[in-house]
Amino acid sequence: MEPVVELKHLTKVIGNKKIIDDLNLSLYPGQITGFLGPNGAGKTTTIRMMVGLMKRTGGDIVIDGKSLSEDFEGGLSKIGVIVENPEMYKFMSGYKNLLHFARMQKNISKERIDEVVRQVGLEQRIHEKVSTYSLGMRQRLGLAQALLHRPKFLILDEPTNGLDPAGIREFREHLRVIAETEGVSVFVSSHMLSEIELMCDRIAVIQNGRLVDIRDMSVTAQSHYYLELSPAEKAKELLISKGFTVESLPLGLVVPAEKNQVPSIIQLLTANEIEVFAVQPHRKTLEDQFLEMTGGGQIAESHTK
Ligand SMILES: Nc1ncnc2c1ncn2[C@@H]1O[C@H](COP(=O)(O)OP(=O)(O)OP(=O)(O)O)[C@@H](O)[C@H]1O
Ligand SMILES: [Mg+2]
Repeated sequence: MEPVVELKHLTKVIGNKKIIDDLNLSLYPGQITGFLGPNGAGKTTTIRMMVGLMKRTGGDIVIDGKSLSEDFEGGLSKIGVIVENPEMYKFMSGYKNLLHFARMQKNISKERIDEVVRQVGLEQRIHEKVSTYSLGMRQRLGLAQALLHRPKFLILDEPTNGLDPAGIREFREHLRVIAETEGVSVFVSSHMLSEIELMCDRIAVIQNGRLVDIRDMSVTAQSHYYLELSPAEKAKELLISKGFTVESLPLGLVVPAEKNQVPSIIQLLTANEIEVFAVQPHRKTLEDQFLEMTGGGQIAESHTK
């Protein structure tokens, strides 16, 4: 599959500080990629360069085959952006707002407006004033606006900030359908790991301006088992000697393993006089993985600016 967006050796230096350091990343059609990183990692800086709000120091960004260094306007015309709190005219209806934005661009038909309204699930309320909308509805109206010109690429910076669980879920489900039906490549930055976990196909993790990891969410679902046992230190040494990666938790260990390996693990332990009290499947959350990848300690679950 051809990428829709490519970051090539993207670099940003401010003063004498390298804020973005040789970042390479490809984003694909129909895929939702989460952009994660501790505070100050360089997410906003990267996004600002992608949408043309900040100059690159080095490297290039290619959007749908158009390099921003060669065809800046052409590249940017393929992007849809939605910021944390989209600006809307509150005294006008949602529909009038969309009409207003449609008029500022070329070739957006009334049919297209109706289509995006359906895609974000606002048919019932679109003719009411925006001032009567909930935050979640406003956010979805922002999404509709960003989609009007059929962008190939959608960037969302903290899109569900402030939404309640139902609003988050609704937003997520609409986004998923849009990515699939329109083949849009979506790039979402967020601090809400639990949400990214449900929303994304892939995650890219940045730290100190460098890409530290890209993972497919399907791969990250590898199975693990938690073993409550004693003595834990002895069990750990034993399992490591057999080639397992072992992680210590209070009262026991976590081992990456498939179900059919469990009986032999138990046999190994009991044959070595280790008492096993419990064995249970252990799901590694994205938070666990994020902390592993970034060395821990810096995650902010809720974001205040
Ligand atoms: N205009 C600027 N001048 C100097 N340093 C800057 C400037 N803009 C950003 N930085 C620095 O660049 C680094 C990356 O900042 P950035 O805002 O991109 O991080 P972030 O990943 O978006 O963080 P957060 O999760 O807090 O939003 C930080 O160390 C920040 O202090
Ligand atoms: Mg930021």
